[in-house]
Amino acid sequence: MKIKAALILCALLAVTGLVLALLSPGPAPGPPLENEPGAETAPSPERTEETTIRNLTRSRLSYRLTPSRGKEPPAGESVIAPRAVHRHRTKVALEIRFFNGLEEQTFTLDPGSAYTFRYDEDGRPQIFLGSHGRTDAADLAPFVPTPQVVVDRMLELVEVTASDVVYDLGCGDGRIVITAAQRYGARGVGIDIDRDLIRRAQADALERGVTPLVRFLVRDVLKADFSPATVVTLYLLPESNELLRPRLEKQLAAGARVVCHNYTVPGWEGSETRSVVLEDDAGGEHKIFVYER
Ligand SMILES: C[S@@+](CC[C@H](N)C(=O)[O-])C[C@H]1O[C@@H](n2cnc3c(N)ncnc32)[C@H](O)[C@@H]1O
Repeated sequence: MKIKAALILCALLAVTGLVLALLSPGPAPGPPLENEPGAETAPSPERTEETTIRNLTRSRLSYRLTPSRGKEPPAGESVIAPRAVHRHRTKVALEIRFFNGLEEQTFTLDPGSAYTFRYDEDGRPQIFLGSHGRTDAADLAPFVPTPQVVVDRMLELVEVTASDVVYDLGCGDGRIVITAAQRYGARGVGIDIDRDLIRRAQADALERGVTPLVRFLVRDVLKADFSPATVVTLYLLPESNELLRPRLEKQLAAGARVVCHNYTVPGWEGSETRSVVLEDDAGGEHKIFVYER
């Protein structure tokens, strides 16, 4: 008798569950990750035993590689041109030696990792481990979010309105595009090479109710189309802004505004329409530069 009652209860629960599942709207869909039909798609992450070295400085640099252990022959002296990428097939860590203009530098490079020559704080060439770990795209800056007070000021300075289309190139967690949508009703596109950050941006956009206005794309900004932008926001390293400059000049329509956090666009010296310095809540100093095309 007890068994019969239990069976009836199970059947009732199963039917109720089925009915609820059919009636439930399911999780609200966020915008897709890559969503422009026919647009350039991000290259798929590679898995290789290559160690890549990319030169984002303005100079030709020479370096010497030697295996830090093992029996592979040394790769010898190499010269890397600005913007070039060298790929070294190796299963072992390599020691790199180069002259930074003052003294010889030595670092160990792990197999399968992406490294970049960029400038250090003193303006000398230095080698950095790529923050996004991809060997197929330039590492334009590590993820360091712009403090909200700075985001707010950047958008105020370029007088964003609901008729603007704001592109953040290297958008991180999407806070600039999301703020522009929330505060001003502007449409926006955030582009980043890091898929996890793009997912975070999408989740945040959903939470703040701005998904109809914003899109987030996993792309290399050096290959992306951002020509619909009326406002571009940048928080990338100076040499990265320099790499982007020809694309900005080619793609942006007259009247588009470009607003940069902390670093100017080399080659556009003297053409800022505004520049301000402000403090964040922790007392850190930030600079903002505004340009108009
Ligand atoms: C300094 S963070 C700025 C984040 C955001 N724009 C902000 O201001 O809060 C730079 C971002 O650029 C991204 N990035 C680096 N290289 C990139 C590339 N080649 N293409 C797209 N994004 C890139 C990084 O993943 C990182 O999220």
